[in-house]
Amino acid sequence: MRKPIIAGNWKMNNTIAETEKLVTELIPMVADAKADVVICVPYTSIAKAVELTKGTNIHVGAENVHWAEKGAFTGEISANMLVELGVEYVVIGHSERRQYFGETDQTVNMRTKAALAHGLKPIICVGETLEEREGNLTEEVVVRQTVEAFKDIDANELANIVIAYEPVWAIGTGKTATSEQANDTIKIIRDTMAKLYGDKTAEEVVRIQYGGSMNPANVKELMAMPEIDGGLIGGASLVAEKFSQVVNY
Ligand code: 13P
Repeated sequence: MRKPIIAGNWKMNNTIAETEKLVTELIPMVADAKADVVICVPYTSIAKAVELTKGTNIHVGAENVHWAEKGAFTGEISANMLVELGVEYVVIGHSERRQYFGETDQTVNMRTKAALAHGLKPIICVGETLEEREGNLTEEVVVRQTVEAFKDIDANELANIVIAYEPVWAIGTGKTATSEQANDTIKIIRDTMAKLYGDKTAEEVVRIQYGGSMNPANVKELMAMPEIDGGLIGGASLVAEKFSQVVNY
């Protein structure tokens, strides 16, 4: 019912030349994918990625977007600028932004609204830190992050939004959440969406990915869980062979 969606998040990796090599390798490897395929790339790689993926099943995303239309925000990029380049998706509220760059639940909400207003599809990240998990705060944290992210967002936008549950302690650590841990927390997020938008919408429309050391070895088990609709892939998305294996799980 909910179509799986596998997205790569390249983070701060790949020059234009490296982008050309990786995307060219990837295109034939994922051409028969049953899942939606997205690559979220650095700003400098967007034009090349869009050019190369034209007419393929690979969709291109950015890794952040500012909420203002334009103005004195040195170093920022607006939704308009991304749309002009042919970007379709945008990662919002990644834990690395929350951790290192002052991202808050409020700015996540503002970015999400700006993205939607310009027809971009947000991939909204939520997830607890190790400290929060060990303090039994996982539920409280993901519920708060979800509720705040979706403030004033209309139900008819939900088909264009993806949620990514990324436990911070599983990112880049090689430590994956067990499929049960991932499924349980994603269920909490879906229940939260059901409270906000109704059971039917949460069940049929809302797609929720897992992210955190997802790779060819664990993708099958994770994707077999009933609540997990896809993956947001960091490290393994930087190698065509690995990312294609995840996409074609
Ligand atoms: P890794 O797959 O490298 O753990 O990164 C996950 C992630 O943060 C994707 O956004």
